[in-house]
Amino acid sequence: MQETKKGLEGIVALDTSISFIDGMQGILKYRGLAIEQLAEMSYDSVSYLLVNGMLPNDQELAAYSFRLKTERRINGEMIDIMRVCNYGTEALDSLRTAISCTAQMDHENDNNSLEANKNKAIRLIAKLPTMLAALYRCKKGETPYLPDDNLSHGANFLYMLRGEAPSAIEAEAMEKDFIISAEHELNPSTFALRITASTLADVYSAIITGLCTLKGPLHGGARKGVMEMLDEVGNPENANAYVLHKLASKQKIMGFGHRVYRTGDPRSRIFKEMARRLADEKGDPTWYEIAESLEHAMYREFLEMRGRPMYPNVDFYSGVIYKYLDIPLELATSVFAIGRVSGWTAHCFEQYMDNRVIRPRAHYV
Ligand code: SDX
Repeated sequence: MQETKKGLEGIVALDTSISFIDGMQGILKYRGLAIEQLAEMSYDSVSYLLVNGMLPNDQELAAYSFRLKTERRINGEMIDIMRVCNYGTEALDSLRTAISCTAQMDHENDNNSLEANKNKAIRLIAKLPTMLAALYRCKKGETPYLPDDNLSHGANFLYMLRGEAPSAIEAEAMEKDFIISAEHELNPSTFALRITASTLADVYSAIITGLCTLKGPLHGGARKGVMEMLDEVGNPENANAYVLHKLASKQKIMGFGHRVYRTGDPRSRIFKEMARRLADEKGDPTWYEIAESLEHAMYREFLEMRGRPMYPNVDFYSGVIYKYLDIPLELATSVFAIGRVSGWTAHCFEQYMDNRVIRPRAHYV
């Protein structure tokens, strides 16, 4: 039997046409398009690209956006369920229950045709922001806001959290966050859900697998960790001591490091610029300055201790953006999922289309 690779590092498990990463050069593309270019589009366009394999023309985009908007609403039964399944410190625990309930209410739940699965994908992409905002409102004992069809995917989510439309720059930041979080090859949650899909389980089961896997602090849960760290550091001058203490006590610093990127994560660069613009616009540089000091300290101290630098990953400046957008801490991982669901469903379909059950071997010791 072959030698095992802890964490499956460097193992190529399958072919995909959904995204491409060059970890040495810091390149990320969804279906052949660079992430820098995608970040300037709408989430609806990028979601269409991921799910359908090509960018929509104007007519296709209008029809897709219309479908998404008409599917945004959730019914009263779902809101009743949300009032009951109140979460503690992590909204994702309730979000996965809400997705399970949506599956049971979906008349196409047992239909595994491509058409039915694409309908389910649209329902999930459209409803996830509404479900999460409703969970948040119910948790506070307040009535959920209805979605606003005049607003984009990102702006509407912020509206449903707050009850007022966000500023233009806030809407842009939320939209970019969803786009840049939408897809990332065989990351842990996507790999996990492809295993579920490979057993020919339904789309909802696969998405719940992905959601559960995203939760951990070594994956999507790191965004929440970054927000907590920014609070804990509190001041740019404390950043170096914080990094030194964490590294000396062999603790992980959230939002740094990546299995694939060796010279920096291109998504982090886009988020950093967005965070800087938010800081300027809001006239409050605090979170940005703490983050930049942490980034510099981590680069310097890791290099000094390990002989190589350490770079921020996608979760680092995204966490900073969430601070500027006043995203509640307990929602952070679920907000990541709102963006990622387009990539997840695309992987689900790719798995169904050329399926063989994923079943590796273990080395018995
Ligand atoms: C995401 O894979 C994807 O694509 C995921 C993702 C996506 O879009 O789906 O990009 C999203 O999950 C980003 C990662 C979020 N997680 C964190 O920010 C948590 C902190 N980072 C790490 O724990 C770590 O860097 C990982 C999990 C991201 C990567 O893990 P690896 O590849 O297994 O690396 P490793 O843990 O083996 O690290 C190598 C060394 C270790 O030291 P030694 O054991 O060799 O002495 O680097 C050290 C680590 O201790 N190290 C860190 C560190 N990251 C790595 N030390 C301190 N702080 C860190 N953040």
